Amino acid sequence: MSVVRFGVSLEKDLLAALDLYAEENMFPNRSQALRYLISHCLAEKKWRCNNPVAGSVTLMYNHHRRDLVSKLTALQHDYHEEILSSVHFHLDGDQCMEIIAVSGTAARLTELADRLHSVKGLDFVRLTITGTGKNPQA
Ligand code: NI
Repeated sequence: MSVVRFGVSLEKDLLAALDLYAEENMFPNRSQALRYLISHCLAEKKWRCNNPVAGSVTLMYNHHRRDLVSKLTALQHDYHEEILSSVHFHLDGDQCMEIIAVSGTAARLTELADRLHSVKGLDFVRLTITGTGKNPQA
């Protein structure tokens, strides 16, 4: 694939944040970091469609937090058609890790992840999905 060079104007603070991001994530240069950020962002946009996808949601949380576990359970029941299975690991006396296997439309799974992001008290939420190769649903 041919590479095209183009100029970008950025605020100083934003450029400093980009350089820090590139350094922290061990990108060899700004271009590589920008390339990653742009493609990541565009891929996420693609997720808001009706394509059939499958993947997982990883959660980390302290199970002592008030109401957190019941909120998570209620939310998962709302997506019972998308949730295939989940595994809960008690990492220590407080911390839990949950891995939820999911399958459904990209839009619906992204919505689940967005709703999980809005639950207070979760330390980590990450949705990973990939197309299942089937034709998009009407
Ligand atoms: Ni636990």
